[in-house]
Amino acid sequence: MHAGFGVTKSQRKRREEKGREMEEEWLVQGQALIWEHILAFATSMALKCVVELGIADIIEQNRGPMTLHQMVAQLPTPSPDLHCLRRIMRVLVHKRVFAQHQPTGNSGEPTFGLTPASRWLVKGGELTLAPMVLMYTHLSFMASWHCFSRCVMEGGVAFEKAHAGVDLWGYCSRDPGFGKLFNSAMACNTKLVTKAIIKEYKDGFRQVSSLVDVGGGVGTAIGGIVKAYPHITGINLDLPHVVETAPDYEGVTHVGGDMFAEIPKADAVFMKWILHDWDDENCLKILKQCRKAIPEETGKLVIVDAVLQPNEEGAWADTRMIFDLAMMAHTSGGRERTEMEWKNLLEEGGFNRYNIISLPSLPSLIEAFPN
Ligand SMILES: C[S@@+](CC[C@H](N)C(=O)[O-])C[C@H]1O[C@@H](n2cnc3c(N)ncnc32)[C@H](O)[C@@H]1O
Repeated sequence: MHAGFGVTKSQRKRREEKGREMEEEWLVQGQALIWEHILAFATSMALKCVVELGIADIIEQNRGPMTLHQMVAQLPTPSPDLHCLRRIMRVLVHKRVFAQHQPTGNSGEPTFGLTPASRWLVKGGELTLAPMVLMYTHLSFMASWHCFSRCVMEGGVAFEKAHAGVDLWGYCSRDPGFGKLFNSAMACNTKLVTKAIIKEYKDGFRQVSSLVDVGGGVGTAIGGIVKAYPHITGINLDLPHVVETAPDYEGVTHVGGDMFAEIPKADAVFMKWILHDWDDENCLKILKQCRKAIPEETGKLVIVDAVLQPNEEGAWADTRMIFDLAMMAHTSGGRERTEMEWKNLLEEGGFNRYNIISLPSLPSLIEAFPN
């Protein structure tokens, strides 16, 4: 019997069944995606574990892949739980952080080696992200991520909600242990970004004879720039409790102060990961001080921050977008900005010309000029 428009009743039933099956399949796929996201933090925790144990350092010191038995023998404990480490390593091999090699001899045990990812976890390495892993997974740092729904409902700052009204900078000052971890996390990333800046922005510093790094932390960036360009006199401005802990760098003077009140005078201002910590209103206050600090005609501002691109693809795309949430979690109004948002902010702050130089890193370099 026909069910209309040339389709039989049984054909229609089969189509409906097929439709239901497809919907069920999509739902199962959706469920798998949600499970993946629910447990996404587990990879961060596994990373934290191997950084705390120094697993990448142990493999590095061994100068090659090693078995789990060899690895745990290097841990400073009489009773390591090898099975626990095996489960952690299984996940990190799956996530391509470590490489697993099947046994070739008669040991019967697989060996584990470094990959281009776990090289960044070697604490003793010249360039490392190990302190960054420890900072991001620190309980105090993670607490603010739990406050997003309150931010949506009430407005306000996640970090302050999580820490009884204290902002990140106040927290670093009150808890010197956490402050030290924060500064070393900044410094480890700055070391590798500075290397990229020196390579990609060679000529940008040639005409500069004095450079002030605003919010320069413990002076890693300005120390590296002055080392590469010894004709530059460097000034590192940060909060007094931060510069107190900064090491000496030849050609660099540390100044404890407040960038909202005054920035020492120089040919150019350098700011890495500063403007993304603040909302537009506070950024304009900082830009006003930057303008006062540099010469009207020849002055220059060098900003190192992410530039979000709509529909960006590639290795950094996800992280840049998620970094915006990190700014929401940890700063008072900070955010990552698109090129249009940078353009508007800079124009309003009195910097009418700018160029963006992309770097092989999370942030790009934006040079901006008052004239
Ligand atoms: C995200 S960290 C970036 C540090 C450094 N530029 C880097 O990238 O490694 C922001 C820095 O701004 C500093 N800071 C916060 N408020 C400041 C203020 N009012 N005056 C000067 N520095 C400040 C913090 O102490 C911190 O070192």
